[in-house]
Amino acid sequence: MSRSVPGSDWHPASWQKLDAAQQPNYPDAADLDRAIGDLSRLPPIVTSWEVDALKAHIAKAQRGEAFVLQGGDCAESFDYCTSESIVAKLKILLQMSLVMLYGLKKPVVRIGRMAGQYAKPRSADIETRGEQALPSYRGDLVNRSPFTPADRIPDPQLILRGYERAALTLNFVRSLIDGGFADLHHPEYWDLDWVGHSKMAEKYRQIVSSISTSLDFLEHASGRAFHQTQKADIYAAHEGLHLGYEQAQTRYLERRKQWYNLTTHFPWIGMRTANVDGAHVEYFRGIANPIGVKIGAGTSRTQLQDLIRVLNPNNEPGRLTLIHRFGAKTIEEGLPDLIRAVRETGAPVLWVCDPMHGNTESTADGTKTRRFGNITDELESAFRIHDEMGSYLGGVHLELTGENVTECTGGARGLTDGDLARAYKSMVDPRLNYEQAMEIAMMIAGQSRGKGPRPQDLI
Ligand code: PEP
Ligand code: CO
Repeated sequence: MSRSVPGSDWHPASWQKLDAAQQPNYPDAADLDRAIGDLSRLPPIVTSWEVDALKAHIAKAQRGEAFVLQGGDCAESFDYCTSESIVAKLKILLQMSLVMLYGLKKPVVRIGRMAGQYAKPRSADIETRGEQALPSYRGDLVNRSPFTPADRIPDPQLILRGYERAALTLNFVRSLIDGGFADLHHPEYWDLDWVGHSKMAEKYRQIVSSISTSLDFLEHASGRAFHQTQKADIYAAHEGLHLGYEQAQTRYLERRKQWYNLTTHFPWIGMRTANVDGAHVEYFRGIANPIGVKIGAGTSRTQLQDLIRVLNPNNEPGRLTLIHRFGAKTIEEGLPDLIRAVRETGAPVLWVCDPMHGNTESTADGTKTRRFGNITDELESAFRIHDEMGSYLGGVHLELTGENVTECTGGARGLTDGDLARAYKSMVDPRLNYEQAMEIAMMIAGQSRGKGPRPQDLI
């Protein structure tokens, strides 16, 4: 086959020759093959021109001309594929992006961890409770979370159910956006009571009121509503973990002479599967999508340089995003060396900070949480370190929800460990709630060193 993919030995299934970490053990291989075959006959969820448009936006962010906001659930769940939950997620992403656009004075590229974020890596294959040992819950794409033998057996039909829900989610998101979704500058639409609890209350009030004034100006000047002047694109992303799922919708587009993963715009490689000799890197090297790789404490400079060489051999702009997730305490020690290692390669990358995954801890009663102060500390360190090293931090990757959950402690309302039980809904990692996520957006807006905003900055 002489196709213009890196290495003529690549094929959507060539990863199968290698050791694939974090894959479920299905009881019946023929059942799995049937489900993957069924999936491959369904239409794609995204198109190659959308994928290429995102790659161009990421290339802009690499040049310092845009900022990426990537956010959503740690693990989407089938039960929360509901109108309310999708609307809430869209609302928080749009509002955050508006605040960030205002502060940073650059276009903000919105990427949801959504419409396919259904498969999770786990630290152990087996979970033991008392006398009973069962397969770990690996996300709704694989098995179910209740601790019973029937729920925990990996079920290939869930692959199809997940794909259908991913399509429903993105379909609804697209319709909401095309319809204008909501009047973003209407005061009732912003839930801003929390601002009064923040030490930064005055500054935050001023940000919100300036945004409102700017939007009014823009709408009066153009004679059209904001959503008619600006198309609020939202792109989809998920961890490309379940390689059968990714492979099934990987298509060769004659027109482009390239393979595309059409389950999502932006798949990323998780920290646990970023081994340069492993099956995930093999799969990812052959697709044309813009891709991310999680890196952090434990990623060596040579490993990172090898990943860049294999995943972006032609130094294509927009292709590679490095999402670093160290933890507030280790970023200082680990990040500068990786920035230097990348610089030596001369390759274009987008640097994105994930201040969530290095800051997970357990409370005394074993509840997984993250402290808001650690999240903001890591983010502030990331901005400062990149700045000091003449590098550009071009995005943030967050686990968040538009709902009023209590999963991370701290924030303007000072949630404590005791508050967590009140509304803890995540089945995997703790997410920022609406208010905490808005507070992060305000903090990022405050990173801007520019002078006061002008209404035309929003155009
Ligand atoms: C995640 O993003 O949910 C995740 C598992 O992250 P990481 O690969 O960085 O641990
Ligand atoms: Co997570």
